[in-house]
Amino acid sequence: MPSEEWTTIEHVSRYLERADEFPHRMEGEGVLLEHVPRDARRVLDIGTGDGRLLALLQADRPEIAGVGIDFSDVMLARAHDRFGVDERVELVKHDLTEPLPDLGRFDAVVSSFVIHHLEHERKRTLYAEAFDLLEPGGVFANFEHVASPTQRLHLAFFEAINEPIEHEDPSDRLLDVHTQLDWLREIGFDDVDCYWKWLEMALLVGVKP
Ligand SMILES: C[S@@+](CC[C@H](N)C(=O)[O-])C[C@H]1O[C@@H](n2cnc3c(N)ncnc32)[C@H](O)[C@@H]1O
Repeated sequence: MPSEEWTTIEHVSRYLERADEFPHRMEGEGVLLEHVPRDARRVLDIGTGDGRLLALLQADRPEIAGVGIDFSDVMLARAHDRFGVDERVELVKHDLTEPLPDLGRFDAVVSSFVIHHLEHERKRTLYAEAFDLLEPGGVFANFEHVASPTQRLHLAFFEAINEPIEHEDPSDRLLDVHTQLDWLREIGFDDVDCYWKWLEMALLVGVKP
């Protein structure tokens, strides 16, 4: 399984301990929040981890109902710890290499630093599944780890996040922004663009007509 390390306590703990340290992360997350419609009632978080994005959304608009999916029991346990018995949040175990389960319809589908773990072909089919799950006017927002155009910039990113390149995640399957934006347009999203970017961190957004 390509992302197997996410099922281990060590890998998950290391990521979560550092989660607030990525430079500019909160800027990108802030832009993502701005583009989730104010009247969104139901949001899907693909690869929710410990529920970080859902928690940010709830802090911004407490009435929102969230569904978080992830395949890691370790991460899902952390999400359960975060949300407790909060009835506004549903957590679903699911391996994203498989088609999304029937989860109903959403006003927004969001994701943060997850889809780059999937093979390119699966990234594209997952984007199409997200499109199908959205209500008209719904927003897909993928805050993502994307490929640098050159190896020098790739090394510069790791230096900037203070991570030795040797610690590069073996499950990373980084892809450039433009290919992913083209896919979103081909799938039928409107207003597709990269709404925010810093080195290898990018916010890719599309709106369902
Ligand atoms: C870098 S973490 C991001 C977690 C969270 N979205 C955040 O922003 O903190 C990557 C997440 O993707 C999940 N993931 C990776 N591969 C997956 C797969 N094939 N199916 C489901 N979840 C997967 C991991 O379990 C982990 O929670």
